[in-house]
Amino acid sequence: MKIGIGVSGASGAVYPKRLIEFLDKKVELFVFASDTAKEIFKYEIDLDFVEFIKTTEARYFETDDFYAPVASGSFGLDACVILPCSMKTLSAIANGYADSLITRCADVAIKQSKKLIVSPREMPFSAIHLENMLKLSRLGASIVVPAPAFYFKPKTLNDMVDFVVGKILDELGIENNLYLRWGAKH
Ligand SMILES: Cc1cc2nc3c(=O)[nH]c(=O)nc-3n(C[C@H](O)[C@H](O)[C@H](O)COP(=O)(O)O)c2cc1C
Repeated sequence: MKIGIGVSGASGAVYPKRLIEFLDKKVELFVFASDTAKEIFKYEIDLDFVEFIKTTEARYFETDDFYAPVASGSFGLDACVILPCSMKTLSAIANGYADSLITRCADVAIKQSKKLIVSPREMPFSAIHLENMLKLSRLGASIVVPAPAFYFKPKTLNDMVDFVVGKILDELGIENNLYLRWGAKH
């Protein structure tokens, strides 16, 4: 399975870090991050994004590298995940404005009816944000807002991160037990 992960400049660097760590060596990963996303990585979790990727088997590409394999539909990515998704990137994707590898990857997923998972992060959402999400949802994208639940009684921040990442893995159809499912024993 080949998965593209686009990291845009919204809060929540812990999420792509965890998702990439979980998927590393299980699937083929192609990752790209905007300049602001890289800054937020450094700011929120004190990590250099590119150095972090070097500790994995994921392949990293600059967002303006339209010669990257994932820029073409012919490469055959199975799924594209935008995590977290800023409101700017959400707007670009919803309007077919494929100006970066992140938005191009999503654009290709939409045109080829491949799995697209978008994880928009903002609070509150404006009507513009919500309309963009509705548009993408109607096009078949999964909108997975990084909003952890509390019914599974999380004890740590990691539990809450794993809940969100587990939901994204569920959308990808990848088996995981990152969170306690309703009905499972505590
Ligand atoms: C520390 C930090 C946190 C941010 N958090 C968010 C956020 O949660 N949601 C959002 O839409 N924009 C957020 N922004 C603003 C975006 O980074 C900005 O709109 C940028 O143009 C997004 O570009 P990109 O999607 O190409 O990364 C944040 C910026 C910074 C510096």
